[in-house]
Amino acid sequence: MPVTLKNQIVLVVGASSGIGRSIAVQFAREGATVMASARRQDRLQALQNELAEENIEIGISTADATNAAAMEELASRTVEQFEKIDILVYATGTNTPDRAMTRLSTKTWDEVIGVNLNGAYYATRAVLPAMRERKSGHLIYIASISGLVPDISGAAYQASKRGMLGLAHAIRVEEKENGIRTCVVCPGLVDTEILEKRPVKPPPEMLAKALQADDVAEAVLFVAKLPPRAAVPEMQIMPTML
Ligand SMILES: NC(=O)c1ccc[n+]([C@@H]2O[C@H](COP(=O)([O-])OP(=O)(O)OC[C@H]3O[C@@H](n4cnc5c(N)ncnc54)[C@H](OP(=O)(O)O)[C@@H]3O)[C@@H](O)[C@H]2O)c1
Repeated sequence: MPVTLKNQIVLVVGASSGIGRSIAVQFAREGATVMASARRQDRLQALQNELAEENIEIGISTADATNAAAMEELASRTVEQFEKIDILVYATGTNTPDRAMTRLSTKTWDEVIGVNLNGAYYATRAVLPAMRERKSGHLIYIASISGLVPDISGAAYQASKRGMLGLAHAIRVEEKENGIRTCVVCPGLVDTEILEKRPVKPPPEMLAKALQADDVAEAVLFVAKLPPRAAVPEMQIMPTML
């Protein structure tokens, strides 16, 4: 029997577009209480308004995931507003058109690692102590198939995604005795705004076969609804025809 998400508090970091936005919408429609965070206030406001039209209330809060203090404040605001955090979804991510080693600067390397990996650590660090005290929590990270299989997504992106796998698995080993689960989700191509950051956007015939953000959100929802005794440490989700 899947566990109900009603009365569960879900913090989604990276909820203003793409996969994170779909995750926020689907959790909210399942009855979870959602705090949606990212940097773009206008996008978060639009998400809140869209769900309000369905009589669903969510919290929104802007925060830059590359700032450890901002992640601490976000966790505190969420707890102040909703009392606890049951599930953290880290769906924040970026890449760069200057991804090839011939073009990659140290500044861009730092930016990609900062958003994709350091932010995941900062957000985790901010929510973990209270989860440990409550002996319960679920940390779900959106990594990428690029964290498992070598490709042309760039050294910084692949290093960051492999790093996320390490982060998630290490935490699972340390924290499972505290009832804390981790899941690192590795999607293949998804048709979202991050593709604008490729040197060349995938052609329409490839995009037609790509996953949609909602597909990844469905997979995350499945993981979140498993009973506390069951964990999915790692999951791949791929477009069938790519
Ligand atoms: N699309 C794909 O093909 C694909 C495949 C595998 C994995 N992924 C991964 O899926 C995750 C979500 O990406 P997406 O495809 O949904 O792309 P997206 O639509 O561009 O979403 C990226 C999200 O990250 C947020 N973000 C970026 N920098 C941030 C920062 N400094 N602080 C807080 N939030 C920040 C963005 O919000 P703001 O700009 O408003 O801050 C946005 O909500 C990423 O980790 C990506 O690597 C994507």
